[in-house]
Amino acid sequence: MTGDVVRRAADALRRASTVTVLTGAGVSAASGIPTFRGKDGLWRKVRAETLATAEAFEHDPKLVWEWYDWRRGMIRDAQPNAGHTVLARWTRERSGTTVITQNVDGLHERANTHSITRLHGSIWHVRCWTGCARGREDWRDDTVPLPTLPPRCPHCGGLVRPGVVWFGESLDTSVLQRATAAAAGCDVFMAIGTSAVVYPAAELLPHARHGGATVIEINPEATNASGISDIVIRQRADEALARLDEML
Ligand code: OAD
Repeated sequence: MTGDVVRRAADALRRASTVTVLTGAGVSAASGIPTFRGKDGLWRKVRAETLATAEAFEHDPKLVWEWYDWRRGMIRDAQPNAGHTVLARWTRERSGTTVITQNVDGLHERANTHSITRLHGSIWHVRCWTGCARGREDWRDDTVPLPTLPPRCPHCGGLVRPGVVWFGESLDTSVLQRATAAAAGCDVFMAIGTSAVVYPAAELLPHARHGGATVIEINPEATNASGISDIVIRQRADEALARLDEML
C-alpha cells in the first residue's frame, strides 16, 4: 500500500518540471530536534506559542532567551538527516526544485541546499531589539551557549532578540511573495513534516492546489494538509525521501 503511494509520488516527481517543497519541524525530527506540537515540544511545560512572542520577550527576555539558547545547543549538536540530504541534492541536481522552510534551525543549509527560502528567519541570527541604527539589521551569532542571557547589543547595549519571526509578527514581504509564487507556479508541491496550522505558511498549500499542482504530503500523522493533498505518504520524512530518491 505505502509502496504504491510512494510510486505514485515518484511518477509525479519524474513528470514535474518544477517542484516546490514546504518543510516543517518534522523534517528535523530524525536529527533529534523536537517538533513544536509533538509530545516533546514543550519546554519547562511552556508552549512555543507562549514563548515565541514579542509580549513574552518584553515580559521576560531572559526566559525567552533561555529557551532559544537551549534549542541552539541542541541544534548545534545535531546533524542533517537523510531527509535534508535528499532535498538538498534535488535542489542541486534537479533543476526547478526549491525548498521553502518554516524551520529556523539551519539544517537544510548545512546539508548544502541550493535553493531555499526561510519563512521564519534563523535561530543563528540576532538583531537589536531597540532597533538602534547599527544593530537594526540581523547579524549571525553562532555562540553556544551565549555567555550572558539575555545578550546585549554590541552597538547600543540594549537587548538583542533572535532573528526569527514570532507569533503576531509579519513575514518579510519579499520572502512571502517569493514563496507564494513558487507554490502557485509549480507542478508538484510537497508538504513535509508540517502540521500546516501556522499561517501564512499553511496558505501555500491552497495556492499550490489552485495553481494546478499535484500536492504530496509526507507525514506520519494526519494534518491540516492531508485533506488538500493528492498523495499522502504516512511515513517519516527521512525514510520516505530516501525511498523516493531511490525510485527517481
Ligand atoms: P509542528 O510541530 O506544528 O508539526 C510538526 C509535524 O511534523 C507534525 O505534523 C508531525 O506529525 C510531523 N512529524 C513528526 N515527526 C516526523 C518525521 N520524522 N517525519 C515527518 N514528519 C514528522 O511544526 P511546524 O508545522 O513546522 O514557528 O510548525 C510551524 C511553526 O510553528 C514553526 O515554524 C514554528 C512553530 O511555532 C515559528 O518559529 C515562528
